[in-house]
Amino acid sequence: MSTALEGVRVLDMTHVQSGPSATQILAWLGADVVKVEALGGDITRKQLRDLPDVDSLYFTMLNCNKRSVTLNMKSAEGKQIFTDMVKQSDVLVENFGPGAVDRMGFTWDLLQELNPGLIYASIKGFGDGPYTHYKAYEVVAQAMGGSMSTTGFEDGPPVATGAQIGDSGTGIHAVAGILAALVQRGQTGKGQRVTVAMQHAVLNLCRVKLRDQQRLGHGPLPEYPNKEFGDSVPRSGNASGGGQPGWAVKCAPGGPDDYIYVIVQPPGWAPISELIGRPELAEDPEWSTPEARLTKLDKMFQLIEEWSVHHSKWDVLAALNAHNIPCGPILSTQELIEDSSLADNDMIVEVDHPQRGSFTTVGCPIKLSDSPVKVETSPLLGQHNEDVYVRELGINRERFAELQKNGVI
Ligand code: COA
Repeated sequence: MSTALEGVRVLDMTHVQSGPSATQILAWLGADVVKVEALGGDITRKQLRDLPDVDSLYFTMLNCNKRSVTLNMKSAEGKQIFTDMVKQSDVLVENFGPGAVDRMGFTWDLLQELNPGLIYASIKGFGDGPYTHYKAYEVVAQAMGGSMSTTGFEDGPPVATGAQIGDSGTGIHAVAGILAALVQRGQTGKGQRVTVAMQHAVLNLCRVKLRDQQRLGHGPLPEYPNKEFGDSVPRSGNASGGGQPGWAVKCAPGGPDDYIYVIVQPPGWAPISELIGRPELAEDPEWSTPEARLTKLDKMFQLIEEWSVHHSKWDVLAALNAHNIPCGPILSTQELIEDSSLADNDMIVEVDHPQRGSFTTVGCPIKLSDSPVKVETSPLLGQHNEDVYVRELGINRERFAELQKNGVI
């Protein structure tokens, strides 16, 4: 079966997480992704290693289904080879520090001249303005995109979320831009520049918090658990953020992840009152309407917890779902990696790796009926030098050996 991006060639100059997460999705959608690495390789190959002398999980889990070539972009011959590769590519993606590709000598003007159909995507920390030249990592973007100030509890410090919304969240935004540019190129024949800033991507994901910032101008936010409000949206603990109240309540036997997140929609209240052994609350005007409950959400969830604390999160999940009540047990990383339904959905997959034997990774969350994804290993450093340089670029074997000897590849 063919794949959605068959025939699309991506020159992947990404490193660490934000860029690699984007090009991994492109590879899963069927693009031929050639990762161009400095001779020392993407720094994450060696970071946070769990086994000596083999590519780290950090690298293998973000670079599946790609090919790898090494190329010294600071050498004249390296720049010449890169020029030839740009001419044969559809997409160039990079997430170096600001100005790095320009300093290599490849401005957007030059890249367009070399290949007018090229789509050139960059991920940076920030857009134009006072922060343009600043570097950024995951939590820097969470700090400056609205996530940290709104995450955590009122009486605690700002908190970073475990979901990598700054890196992988930005990667997904970049994929959307690249795919849109490919569609537009189909009409115009022209490539274009795609830029995504991590601060912007996180802000996009924090959209509802700016909704609440504006609502705050008209009075306190009644669905928030907070008693006092200042000028900005406060940290609201586990409040749902939507129009229906929710909270994480404790379950048995009381371990760190023995909680379930429960949402109380209006029709859910009667069955919940029944389940928690307080059926009279379904009719009690003090409790029966969403408006009445809104003034005492803390007490409502306390009542639910007095029941849930005696049951496992799995039993609570079954009991609530029997009444169509939205809820979600808090799943630990161990529970996730062992979850058979995620494995059945190809979301937890085992991949053979030439050095590691095999490793577990997270599969592709985008399912296309006519473009199946088979997750395959990340490449070893420079594994495809010969394929790309000799067979595809036509460099003869003598010159190939010279390039190796001279530290160009
Ligand atoms: N050959 C030769 N040199 C190469 C090369 C190659 N194939 N590939 C990269 N390099 C060089 C670059 O030219 C650059 O050198 P220069 O600064 O002398 O011009 C250097 O390697 C890379 O610099 P930089 O990207 O700034 O690396 P860093 O480790 O100092 O910073 C980040 C890392 C992530 C902070 C930075 O890349 C960044 O801010 N990126 C944009 C935001 C982002 O994606 N952050 C999230 C990462 S998960």
